Amino acid sequence: MNINITSLVRKNILKMKKYASARDEFTGKAKVFLDANENAFGSPSGQELNRYPDPLQKQLRDKIADYKGLSSPEHLFLGNGSDEAIDLILRAFCEPRIDSLMLLLPTYGMYSVSANVNDIKILNVELNKDFSLNVNEIISVAKKEQPKVIFICSPNNPSANVYAKEDIEKILNSVNCLVMIDEAYIDFATTSSWIERLDEFKNLIVIQTFSKAWGMAGVRLGMAFADPEIINVLNKIKYPYNINDVTSNIVLKTLQDPSIKDELVTKIKIERTFLMNAFKDISIVKEVIPSEANFFLARFKDPDAVYRFLTEEGIIVRNRSNQLHCEGCLRVTVGTREENIMLCEALQKYSEKE
Ligand SMILES: Cc1ncc(COP(=O)(O)O)c(C=O)c1O
Repeated sequence: MNINITSLVRKNILKMKKYASARDEFTGKAKVFLDANENAFGSPSGQELNRYPDPLQKQLRDKIADYKGLSSPEHLFLGNGSDEAIDLILRAFCEPRIDSLMLLLPTYGMYSVSANVNDIKILNVELNKDFSLNVNEIISVAKKEQPKVIFICSPNNPSANVYAKEDIEKILNSVNCLVMIDEAYIDFATTSSWIERLDEFKNLIVIQTFSKAWGMAGVRLGMAFADPEIINVLNKIKYPYNINDVTSNIVLKTLQDPSIKDELVTKIKIERTFLMNAFKDISIVKEVIPSEANFFLARFKDPDAVYRFLTEEGIIVRNRSNQLHCEGCLRVTVGTREENIMLCEALQKYSEKE
């Protein structure tokens, strides 16, 4: 599919001038910076935080691009969490009250929140009962309604499954809108990332995050990978200093030894197997749904009562029983061995009461 990205961008965004931050207008080597109304004396934090960060995060983007094997950092956008990237994609491409986007239900709740904030019409297409993609329906609705973006979450939250590559490929080849694949949980999956296919599909945007496998939800760093034309639009409309120096420095340091992340992923996958197996032996658990993420769905006869009981025991899981195809389901994040045992013991205690 030959897609013209410029034709998808909102007209006001195409026309507008980007905010020129203090250092944007200057190239070369300077000795004295008296241009940005910063505090030249330093900061009471005792750390060097008195200067604004680099708006385009050159050092950090180079490092991440290198780690991810991108052909160039021009394919990478960094956001204040991937939630920022998701929101900016809508703001860049979807005209409020006119354009639409497509969601595949059930899925991550922030997509519809962002759509609602931006007043963008949502086209809901249901997943099949086994949580696979209803490819024909997706393509047919896309052709009829012409959404600007299709949001595909793979591994999906809350169902924890990965969609078949052939299905996604068929969608990418059949629609003339953007296709955003949210890979927040890709490190826990058995399939490879769609980042590898960026050069084939101009309409593909892949989202990833430091919040899950990297264990850095607190620093708020999300990534969007796409054609440089799309990345330029996102960089044009973001807040000038959206990635702060504290985050940048910690992530740069972490990337010096990324193998620690791989060790964490291995640990979580071992715990996932442990917890899912343990669930199968608990009588009130009716079904444990397979997972390619760091969480899974488990089905109960009375999920609300189990949820309440766990809360009283001081254990919080996510009640997803009101979501499509998730009847009876609680979503459980894999914890440490100690936490997982506490959860299983609490569920056993509840079972014995029944
Ligand atoms: C599918 C999915 N995408 C994105 C996010 C948000 O990630 P971030 O912390 O990078 O904003 C989440 C958080 O739970 C998620 O489940």
